[in-house]
Amino acid sequence: MAKISFREVSKIYGAQAARALAMREAGRSKDEIRAETGATLALDRVSLDVAKGRCQVVMGLSGSGKSTLVRLVNRLISPTSGDVIVDGEPLGVLTQRALRDFRRHKVSMVFQDFALFPHRSVLDNVAYGLSVRGLDRETRHASARRWIETVGLSGYDAALPDELSGGMKQRVGLARALATDPEILLMDEPFSALDPLIRRDMQDELLALQKTLKKTILFITHDLNEALRLGERIAIMKDGAIIQQGTPSGIVSKPADAYVRAFLRTLPERPKPAKKAASRAKNSRQSKRQVK
Ligand SMILES: Nc1ncnc2c1ncn2[C@@H]1O[C@H](COP(=O)(O)OP(=O)(O)OP(=O)(O)O)[C@@H](O)[C@H]1O
Ligand SMILES: [Mg+2]
Repeated sequence: MAKISFREVSKIYGAQAARALAMREAGRSKDEIRAETGATLALDRVSLDVAKGRCQVVMGLSGSGKSTLVRLVNRLISPTSGDVIVDGEPLGVLTQRALRDFRRHKVSMVFQDFALFPHRSVLDNVAYGLSVRGLDRETRHASARRWIETVGLSGYDAALPDELSGGMKQRVGLARALATDPEILLMDEPFSALDPLIRRDMQDELLALQKTLKKTILFITHDLNEALRLGERIAIMKDGAIIQQGTPSGIVSKPADAYVRAFLRTLPERPKPAKKAASRAKNSRQSKRQVK
């Protein structure tokens, strides 16, 4: 059974959601719907299964619906139609109380802009989720210290977020998300604000952590390189729909359309396999001989 399952999920922002949905069902496009109703079709019948303990990457251009998808999983927003199912249970049926428990225990989110509490120390930021749970001070600080050490920030317990670099802030964000030991980690472009080298460090950190933690991760990115490094599965979104999903190598070897091929062109050139290069050299020698 999938840990997270999106079943035919559509999300429409705007007052005329029902009319917009009916227009979509009648085959009208996102632009036509927007022109006529003012509503935005942010997700268009998305179906996706995320396996337990795996890292699922979702990528796509700005406005393609990635943040909308990820926000459905902690029910910051609800679908206009379709279901988001976690551990076999549709999130739509959760009572307020069950939803609160779900957010405290099952999911954590890491944000692009870190979203740390500026006036709280690193220790208190990391311990935040544990204090919401009502753990006593000593227990939550002991646990927070372990996570601070795990993400490589020993010695910074008392620092304020403003005293840290971007990479360090995101380590705090990661430690805070992991401190509650969630089953699901939602990461909405967590590394996009970081310099390339720091970004790579953070990717390595996440890969190393994931080896032992085995969280179910929904990781959003614009960057195909990052997607290929981190994703065990990748889904590519365009205009609210998933246009291709599969393994990294499946996507690289068989891009579904021109949009995916355009992403692939953003990858750095990789050296051609030696065999082909040798055979090209041979061909060119032959053609030179022919010229003679
Ligand atoms: N709260 C909102 N109200 C109205 N429209 C919204 C809202 N949030 C998002 N949208 C619209 O829904 C569509 C999908 O937005 P979303 O934020 O999910 O895209 P995204 O892929 O995360 O983009 P980015 O890469 O820029 O973060 C966009 O057209 C956006 O303008
Ligand atoms: Mg977004």
